[in-house]
Amino acid sequence: MIISAPTDYRAAAQRALPPFLFHYIDGGANQEHTLSRNCEDLQAIALKQRVLRNMEDLSLSCDLFGDTLSMPIALAPVGLTGMYARRGEVQAARAADNKGIPFTLSTVSVCPIEEVAPVMARPMWFQLYVLKDRGFMKHALERAKAAGVTTLVFTVDMPVPGARYRDRHSGMSGDYAALKRVWQAACHPKWAWDVGLNGKPHDLGNISAYRGEPTQLEDYIGWLGANFDPSISWKDLEWIREFWQGPMIIKGILDPEDAKDAVKFGADGIVVSNHGGRQLDGVLSSAKALPAIADAVKGEVKIMVDSGIRSGLDVVRMIALGADCTLLGRSFIYALAAQGQAGVEHLLSLYESEMRVAMTLTGAKSLADLNLDALSQI
Ligand code: FNR
Repeated sequence: MIISAPTDYRAAAQRALPPFLFHYIDGGANQEHTLSRNCEDLQAIALKQRVLRNMEDLSLSCDLFGDTLSMPIALAPVGLTGMYARRGEVQAARAADNKGIPFTLSTVSVCPIEEVAPVMARPMWFQLYVLKDRGFMKHALERAKAAGVTTLVFTVDMPVPGARYRDRHSGMSGDYAALKRVWQAACHPKWAWDVGLNGKPHDLGNISAYRGEPTQLEDYIGWLGANFDPSISWKDLEWIREFWQGPMIIKGILDPEDAKDAVKFGADGIVVSNHGGRQLDGVLSSAKALPAIADAVKGEVKIMVDSGIRSGLDVVRMIALGADCTLLGRSFIYALAAQGQAGVEHLLSLYESEMRVAMTLTGAKSLADLNLDALSQI
C-alpha cells in the first residue's frame, strides 16, 4: 500500500489491526457528530495565499515551557498504545524524540513510565486522569518525577467515560467480546504474532505497578469505569499543585470561561480539546471553540489544541486560529499501527513538509506570523 499523505495511514491501520482495536481508535461518542465536525470544520477553513514575499529562512520552531520544539506538534496521550504496535509507547516516544517533539504517556498506557521515559533524550510528558483513587495519582506523580518527566498533562474532560457505541459492536466491550477478540486476532496473524504474542505483557503498566498485580484488557475497562471521579472541581486540583512544581497543562478545555479558570488556577498551558469527539457528542469542534478561547486567554497561558488534526495544513490552521502548539491523536496512532516507529517518523516528516509549503504560500516566516490574517473569509 502506497503512503503518500498523512491521511493514508488510516486505511493502512485498518488493514493491520483487529477490528476491535481499529474501531476503538477510530470511533467517537454517541452518533459521532463531534468526531466528524472536528475534521470538517477544520478543513473548511480557507488559507490565504500570499506571493513574492521572500520566504527564505522559514522557521517552524516552537518555544514551549523552556524547550524548543522542531515544529508546533506534540504526540497526545493515547491509552493502550502498546496494543496497536509492539511496545507501542516506546516506539512512538522514540519517533517523537527523533523528530524533536514531545511525547505524552497516557495514564492507561501499556508500557509503564519507567519503560518509556529512559528511551527519550528529551523529557517525557505524562498525562494524568482525575481518579477516585488519589493514592494512585500521588504514586503516579512520584514515579513520573523520579523518571525525569517535566510536564504534566492533566486531563479533565473525563469525569465519566463517554458512550462509545462502536466498541460494543466491535468486540472491545459488550456480548461475547473476548470471543470476538480471539477470532479477530486469528484473522490478523501479523498483529497476533507481533503484538499479541511478542508485545507482552499487555498490562496497564502504570496501574499494575501501583496495585502490585498484573492487569489486562478487562481490567482496563472495569478499572476505568469504577475510577473516574464525577465529583471533581477546581479546588481538588490544588493538592496536585503541591506534588507537581513543573509545568502543568489542563487538557479538555472547550469554553472561554473554563480557560479563564485554568489561568486563575495557575495552569501553565491548556489543551483546547473535546477528546477527539470521544466524550460529549454534539459539542463544538476544537477549531470552532479555539478563537474565543484565544481571545480570552492568549498570552496568559500556552494554548495547545487537538481534535481533528490530520495534516500539516491543519496544524497551520490551528496556529492561525490562536494556538501556540498542537497535539496529534489518531493521526499518529494510525501511522504507528501501520508501520511502527518508522511510520510515525515518516508521518511527522510529511507534517513538516506540508507546514513548510503552507507557511511559504501564506507568507508566514515563523509561527509568530501565523494569525487570522493568514486565513480567508469564505
Ligand atoms: C485518546 N485520548 C486520550 N486522552 C487522554 O488524555 N488520555 C488518554 O488515555 C486518551 N486515550 C485515547 C485513546 C484513543 C484511542 C484516542 C483516539 C484518544 C484523546 C487524545 O489525547 C486526543 O485528545 C484526541 O485523540 C485528539 O483528537 P484526534 O487528533 O484523535 O482527532
